[in-house]
Amino acid sequence: MERLQKVLSRAGIASRRASERLIVEGRVAVNGATVTQLGTSIDPSRDVVRVDGKRVPAPPASHTFLVLNKPRGYVTTARDPEGRPTVMDLLREVGKRVYPVGRLDYASEGLLLLTDDGDLARDLMRPASGVRKTYLAKVRGRPAAKDLERMCHGVVVAGRRTLPARAHVVRPGPNSWVEITVVEGRKHQVRMMLEAIGHPVQRLRRVRYGGVEMGDLPSGRFRALTPEEVRRLRGACRASPARPGNRKSG
Ligand code: URA
Repeated sequence: MERLQKVLSRAGIASRRASERLIVEGRVAVNGATVTQLGTSIDPSRDVVRVDGKRVPAPPASHTFLVLNKPRGYVTTARDPEGRPTVMDLLREVGKRVYPVGRLDYASEGLLLLTDDGDLARDLMRPASGVRKTYLAKVRGRPAAKDLERMCHGVVVAGRRTLPARAHVVRPGPNSWVEITVVEGRKHQVRMMLEAIGHPVQRLRRVRYGGVEMGDLPSGRFRALTPEEVRRLRGACRASPARPGNRKSG
């Protein structure tokens, strides 16, 4: 349910204030009955609104899109049977039900998208969507370039070859940092891929998802996506599946 003046302004009829005036002047009807009460709420997807007898098209639903910098030690579900902290504990002030787009492991950290737009969430999570996710992984040892190149052809994990991924060392050392970009979202995928080439993961942080960057958002904090970021996500879903590196966006 939504306030009538808000529905009118979202539909582009007039500003919120001017829409209130239209209501008070008796120029607005809902389901055939004139409404002059400013407190009136309607269901914009079902109720028929007219202004001066002319039908107002239903405005597009307004959805919430958030990015959270998930800390380690939080589960990506609404409730945990083991009583561990959940990402929902960090989102209390949102005041709206939002759902995580995919999951990050309990021990993983970084960029987690949340939305109440079920269609977009489903599109992003479709295995064939080809949306790129980039991680920074601290691994044991120093992977050789030829091992990381194996990612380009996919590696077999849990009995199935992964789609091609791209990986390179960004900080070499006894325990190196590797940047890895994948297009799937299989359970424990990045950990299993790096384990498969002999470099188990010690720390895993997602830094990019379909063109959305986490930037310097502090751990445990969230922010709303910009309209441009939401457009990028929608665009990333529309693009055909491809190898990481072969696409301009996503
Ligand atoms: N891959 C993993 O192995 N773990 C995550 O949390 C995300 C991707």
